[in-house]
Amino acid sequence: MQQTFKLRKFTPKDLERVTYINRVCLPENYVDYFFMDLYERFPETFIVAEENGEIVGYIMCRIETGLSNFGFGGFIKKGHIVSIAVMPEHRRKGIGHALVTKAMEGMHLYNAKQCFLEVRVTNTPAISLYKKLGFKITRTIHGYYSDGEDAYLMSREL
Ligand SMILES: CC(C)(COP(=O)(O)OP(=O)(O)OC[C@H]1O[C@@H](n2cnc3c(N)ncnc32)[C@H](O)[C@@H]1OP(=O)(O)O)[C@@H](O)C(=O)NCCC(=O)NCCS
Repeated sequence: MQQTFKLRKFTPKDLERVTYINRVCLPENYVDYFFMDLYERFPETFIVAEENGEIVGYIMCRIETGLSNFGFGGFIKKGHIVSIAVMPEHRRKGIGHALVTKAMEGMHLYNAKQCFLEVRVTNTPAISLYKKLGFKITRTIHGYYSDGEDAYLMSREL
């Protein structure tokens, strides 16, 4: 199938549209400062997908230092996917897959060795996407979300 979307890095003028997509697609919403802080610190991993000149999806990440998610290897840099969403009418066209792939390329530039994220245990579309990208469930975090739902921690080597 012909790819109809384009990926590019987030810029400040995209903030309003990205926060809109975040509110439409996810219960976890953030103040503008939170988005801008991630953009300023990690611009290579804040990516938007555009179709016909309109942003239809985004991914934003943070680089952290911590223990390996696979129980060996000591302290390393890890790329943390903080938020990803694609507008409902643009799903199942490969945009989510492309956004994660592009963000992982950016994580390499920050010298991250692993990539990880939290996902609701009932979020089958997202879990399927991450499995397809080679992520494994490395832990269950009980009561992670504010409504009490558990999260899977999913991780992969970069
Ligand atoms: C998760 C999300 C980002 C996926 O975006 P997307 O652009 O639809 O994903 P893609 O088209 O790249 O899908 C890639 C693969 O993921 C899997 N997948 C995606 N959506 C799926 C679904 N609804 N059911 C089953 N598998 C699914 C499939 O394996 C798919 O490949 P295929 O279409 O060839 O079968 C999107 O559903 C979304 O924005 N959800 C709401 C926000 C959210 O839950 N974010 C994640 C929080 S952790």
